[in-house]
Amino acid sequence: MEQYNKNNIRNFCIIAHIDHGKSTLADRFLELTGTIEKRKMQEQYLDQMELERERGITIKLQPVRMLYRMPISKSQSLNPKQFQNSNIEIQNNLEISDSEYILNLIDTPGHVDFSYEVSRSLAAVEGAILLVDASKGIQAQTLANLHLAQNQGLKIIPVINKIDLPNARTAQIKEELSNLLSVEREDILEISAKNGINVESVLERVIRDVPLPSLAEASYGGQSPPCEGEKRLRCLIFDSSFDVYKGVIAYVRVFSGSLKREEKITTYVTGAKADIIEVGYFLPTLKVSDSISAGEIGYIATGLKDPGQIRVGDTIMKLNDQSLMTKAFGLSPSTLSFKPLPGYKEPRPMVFASFFPENADDYDELKDALGKLKLTDASLVYEPESSAGLGRGFRLGFLGMLHVEIISERLKREFGLNLIISTPSVEYSVKLKNNEEVKIRSAAFLPDPSRIENIAEPVVNLELISPASHLGSIMDLVSHFRNTYISTGYLGKDTVILKYKVPLAEIVTDFYDKLKSVSSGYASMSYELTGMEVADLIRLDIFLAEEMVEPFSRIIPREKAQYEGREMVTKLKEIVPPQWFQVAIQAAIGGKIIARETIRARRKDVTGYLYGGDVTRKKKLLEKQKKGKKKMEESGKVNLTQDVFLKMLKR
Ligand code: GTP
Repeated sequence: MEQYNKNNIRNFCIIAHIDHGKSTLADRFLELTGTIEKRKMQEQYLDQMELERERGITIKLQPVRMLYRMPISKSQSLNPKQFQNSNIEIQNNLEISDSEYILNLIDTPGHVDFSYEVSRSLAAVEGAILLVDASKGIQAQTLANLHLAQNQGLKIIPVINKIDLPNARTAQIKEELSNLLSVEREDILEISAKNGINVESVLERVIRDVPLPSLAEASYGGQSPPCEGEKRLRCLIFDSSFDVYKGVIAYVRVFSGSLKREEKITTYVTGAKADIIEVGYFLPTLKVSDSISAGEIGYIATGLKDPGQIRVGDTIMKLNDQSLMTKAFGLSPSTLSFKPLPGYKEPRPMVFASFFPENADDYDELKDALGKLKLTDASLVYEPESSAGLGRGFRLGFLGMLHVEIISERLKREFGLNLIISTPSVEYSVKLKNNEEVKIRSAAFLPDPSRIENIAEPVVNLELISPASHLGSIMDLVSHFRNTYISTGYLGKDTVILKYKVPLAEIVTDFYDKLKSVSSGYASMSYELTGMEVADLIRLDIFLAEEMVEPFSRIIPREKAQYEGREMVTKLKEIVPPQWFQVAIQAAIGGKIIARETIRARRKDVTGYLYGGDVTRKKKLLEKQKKGKKKMEESGKVNLTQDVFLKMLKR
């Protein structure tokens, strides 16, 4: 690997709206570059998680290093202008005549809930392929991700995918993209990732247009470095994972210096110290190498057992660099002017839900599992919580509802945990009559109404993008939610952008699915938090067999109480399995019941195996069954399984 210099490295990612073909294009790249043998190739190779493959979506970013041999004739036509942006000194005889390139690709998710993953990938690269589906056109995450990439100053390579589809609108989308990006139409590539048409030209464009790896110079607060000329290590952690033998594995982009096995490192923010067990690259599986150095993307196996010590956005440096500088300048590590790399915006959880283990003994296991998930999902936040009825558990913060579903499923599948999950809630700000203000992330904690002055809820600017033909049905859908209309605009002839102000609580549950269904999958959305607004909100409770099921309690607008109460009891009637006794399902506000359904008792013929006419035995058995039923009725508990909670999440 040592024969490569920085001129032959390109770091880039693919950004797109969900399903526009990122993972498929990545598959073609893996084949073209021979990174994955053909016989081992399976569709959407980089989507390694079982859930990703099952649902056909990318949840996690995934880095991979590819080697690409470019025909000399093509490499000679590279535009030397690209080097002007780079702070690397280029010798007279450019080594770009070397025809092999290291292409570091980071595949990113497209769903609105996972844009945090995208922003982390962007901080580690210099260019982004903006992929747009020729049949669907520019959609909400196309724009949202494009803005993220532009804010990072990345070079954008526009590519239209799926040109093989019969309903492809390639020319029209080219026009729209050319206006959006202010580029010539000829600069927009047309490909079919599925059929491999024109895919190689995308790689060539990456090599031609993506700037060389930008390098960071270590800053020593205006003083000269303690060791002249030595490049100090600075790596940006953009992701991490956990391995039982290798400990926490930090996924890094090296901005300066280099790192070898057995060297000692420390992190800027958490102050973690570690002896490196191993360094290497992603192929996309981990591949050990002697060292990783400036400009590259790779991994560092730290041996650390505590996941909290390696934090996404933190900077890794060498321990001896730090102590050298401390000695030279008499500065403590925290005040040291060795500037860390700019980290990322902390992800902001939008939705909260409480998770309790069905079996109280599993609490530690749940804690452990969350620690491990947090490693592969930096956006997940959690804090311990306890409830009188449900014991000890955790309150988790999520980026959106798909995120809630994914984490619940992963806890079940990967860790075998059965959980009780509360109805997700946004964060409310409650002003009490004594002027105190409390933040509430769960209906269970809402103070008594007599103490409340008012409740404020988060409000977002919602942007919906759709073909104009669906405009009517989308406006009709939005009218069923609390909203304030802002504007309608056009992106090209046939693509509309609708803007509304809506309470976050309105759109976090099932709005996205409904939007998809009224627009035959074409409309898309993105939103941005704008502030908090006071609203007329109340708490809705659900009772099963006269007992309140705390996880189902919700804070809702008063005007919707009746409707929501009815919806919930009807849904519960469908999904709660029949019990041995009759069960009343009730929705209530304060002490007042506003909706009710009944689940009929389950019947089982306990006398079935008896034959002949022994009536007394039959009676005896029925009597016994009746007693058993009565006992269960007295205990009055309906035990709900995780399935019921999961189904309630997917309303
Ligand atoms: P997320 O990771 O979930 O955001 O999706 P993605 O952008 O990675 O899309 P993915 O590669 O999973 O492709 C989505 C669907 O489009 C799959 O069914 C692909 O087979 C299909 N697809 C991708 N590229 C093409 C193409 O060029 N032509 C056609 N006809 N289908 C394609």
